[in-house]
Amino acid sequence: MQRSLTGIKPSNAPHLGNYLGAIRPALRLAQEYESFLFIADYHALTTLRDREAMRAYTYDVAATWLACGLDPAKIHLYRQSDVTEVFELTWVLACLIATGQLERGVSYKDALAKGEAPNAGIFNYPVLMAADILLYDADVVPVGRDQLQHLEVARDVAARVNHVFGEGLLVVPEARITEAPLVPGLDGQKMSKSKGNSIPLFAPQKTLRKTVMQIVTGSDPLEAAVEARGSTVYELYQLVASEEQCRMMQESLRRPDYGWGHAKQALFEALEAELGPRREVYDALRGDEAKLEALLAEGAARVRPIARATIARVREAIGMRSRP
Ligand code: TRP
Repeated sequence: MQRSLTGIKPSNAPHLGNYLGAIRPALRLAQEYESFLFIADYHALTTLRDREAMRAYTYDVAATWLACGLDPAKIHLYRQSDVTEVFELTWVLACLIATGQLERGVSYKDALAKGEAPNAGIFNYPVLMAADILLYDADVVPVGRDQLQHLEVARDVAARVNHVFGEGLLVVPEARITEAPLVPGLDGQKMSKSKGNSIPLFAPQKTLRKTVMQIVTGSDPLEAAVEARGSTVYELYQLVASEEQCRMMQESLRRPDYGWGHAKQALFEALEAELGPRREVYDALRGDEAKLEALLAEGAARVRPIARATIARVREAIGMRSRP
């Protein structure tokens, strides 16, 4: 079975856009592979300087994926920082990556263009990411388009290491572009935490309803026949409702006694049907950090031997003695 690996930066508490756009599709895809899913906390450190937030987001992310159906017996769920072997590989890779390639990095260039003074972590971000991937001999890396350039760095350096130190030493990974559905936020723009238009994933039911009611719609009078397609309410509804339900909403909105308020209520109910049971699991897990720690520790213990084997292979190939 091919290996798939992906990392999630713990830089916010997951919202509905993360769930519909990334988590749900990723969990479906994961079934086709031996899957590795890790919390990229050292990547988050490039921007996150708050101990409590780092802790909280790490648990939020772990509890969210578990509540959304990640089965830790099938998918390796671990925390990047728990497997420190990644840094040994990071250094080896850094010695084979030209600084020019990192200087062309989009995030690094963006930071410079904005007049920021990016830290060396941002500059070296793609090196650590390549190590994340190559350490576990991943065949496939499901990523969004924004991560393609990072994947290219991982592929290039794997090929170079193989060329210099021996073919077959590292697996050259393939990117698998995930066609994530675009999830609109309250204002119709792509849902994102920074835009302040997101719908929280596991907020209490009441808050979920209140937030759904804030979705911006046209100010058509109730009796007007309105077109469902193209509206934020309907776009979101399509992501959680059945085809039959979608057809009904389209028809209903053309009726004089059914308006956006009704459509939002239907959306809320569909969301609640999908999220309600998961919220319960989430709340129970999120309230038990010891349990989350134990699960993450188990995940790390399962993948560490793979990391160690890669490091041993690489050390041997570069002319260093294997550690006992
Ligand atoms: N850079 C990725 C992101 O921001 C997170 C990440 C870190 C990752 N290491 C990875 C993704 C390795 C895939 C493989 O989304």
